[in-house]
Amino acid sequence: MNSKRNRADLIVGLQWGDEGKGKIVDHMAQTHDVVCRFAGGHNAGHTIVVDDKTYALHLIPSGVLNPKAINIVGNGVVLSPADFIKEMNQFDKLEERLFISDKAHLLLPYHASIDQARERMKGDRAIGTTGKGIGPAYGDKIARVGHRVGELHHPEKLMLKIRHHFEENRAIFEAMGVEMPEESVLLEELLGYQKALEPYIVDTTLLVWKALDEGQKILLEGAQGTMLDIDHGTYPFVTSSTTVSAGACSGLGINPKDIGQVTGIAKAYCTRVGNGPFPSEDFGDDGKRLRKNGHEFGTTTGRPRRCGWFDAVAMRHAVRINGVDQVALMKLDVLDGFDEVKVCVGYEVDGQAIDYVPYDLEDATPIYQSFPGWDKSEGVRDFEELPATAKSYIQSLEKMIGAKIGIISTSPQREDTIVRRS
Ligand code: GDP
Ligand code: IMO
Ligand code: MG
Repeated sequence: MNSKRNRADLIVGLQWGDEGKGKIVDHMAQTHDVVCRFAGGHNAGHTIVVDDKTYALHLIPSGVLNPKAINIVGNGVVLSPADFIKEMNQFDKLEERLFISDKAHLLLPYHASIDQARERMKGDRAIGTTGKGIGPAYGDKIARVGHRVGELHHPEKLMLKIRHHFEENRAIFEAMGVEMPEESVLLEELLGYQKALEPYIVDTTLLVWKALDEGQKILLEGAQGTMLDIDHGTYPFVTSSTTVSAGACSGLGINPKDIGQVTGIAKAYCTRVGNGPFPSEDFGDDGKRLRKNGHEFGTTTGRPRRCGWFDAVAMRHAVRINGVDQVALMKLDVLDGFDEVKVCVGYEVDGQAIDYVPYDLEDATPIYQSFPGWDKSEGVRDFEELPATAKSYIQSLEKMIGAKIGIISTSPQREDTIVRRS
């Protein structure tokens, strides 16, 4: 084995997404050579604030703001070429520092039409997807009828395969009102994608292996969150990918031994966008105040996020599933000014108190513990300068979730980040 060989650091969301992964990936990317996205698609929205500029990234890894970092979009991602190209146009000089896996699956406009049609047909049972086509694109991948990014090398062949796909599914597509694009229009579109993306398409697994073997510092960027994971989340109100740390291996072609430190990202409270169970949701003034203070509106869809208290039970589940070494606790400042702060410490299901995530979280009623609030943590950069009650809130959370809180974020700005010495 190469003696220089390194292990990759991993970042995953521990709640229902939007925990602030983008800020921490950007923060850590300053000291990493390579940043890799391993799952999801443009359903993700990672906001990064640098001085007075705000960037919203959906598919390009959040390492792009470090001009020295190489950014990789792994095979586990579903990639909408049109949206990717739009996103690329925000940045200069991406050649040699952005690479897309030839094995990533293509998300094409018909996937979004199918997603939206299915949601309409579900009515009040809708998942509340982003409508971007994520489920249908991953569905095609698993059903082995998808198309991969590498096929953009041969647009005419790809166009014929898409035509066959439409012919095989004509009845279903017609029922959903999804139309086959004109052949000439589709071909022109695919030729455009080929022209824009071909220089970036490579076997990214080989690139990641080489970087690991050369001892480069690699950061793996997750999307969504543990409670949205296809297996371990609140099914069926989940996304269609493996969002937990295991997804980094399959989504990039590395093995578990290649993974080093796992940093789990969690807000100091909870939010969820879309439908599905959320036991600690607050429907009253506190929930409204969290939404207002935290600007809790989706980066991708603009939808208001549902808000509530920190759920220590779901967090313990997430810490275990992901093998979390340290938690980054985000948006502590959003709790500033509350007289008391609540934490869900257990659930009641069928009259019984439990301390684990049950089969269906819909049946769970939260059991709360209250903690004294604090005045101001916003902008604090040193743990010792936090108000005493904020420090004791953080220390109590550590005990409840069974993980160290190594990073605390106190504003959207890069520098307003406390890194605790162990
Ligand atoms: P991601 O999807 O996990 O990357 O998170 P999003 O970017 O969708 O949502 C997190 C939002 O919170 C973004 O608007 C960030 O700029 C913002 N944010 C991140 N950290 C903090 C923080 O510590 N305090 C405040 N007030 N906002 C933060
Ligand atoms: P980031 O990476 C929050 C949610 C949707 C919906 C469910 C399924 O920014 O944390 P989908 O379009 O994926 O089929 O929708 O998943 N969802 C997210 N919620 N943050 C995200 O990404 C999300 N990506 C998907 O709202 O409930
Ligand atoms: Mg987001």
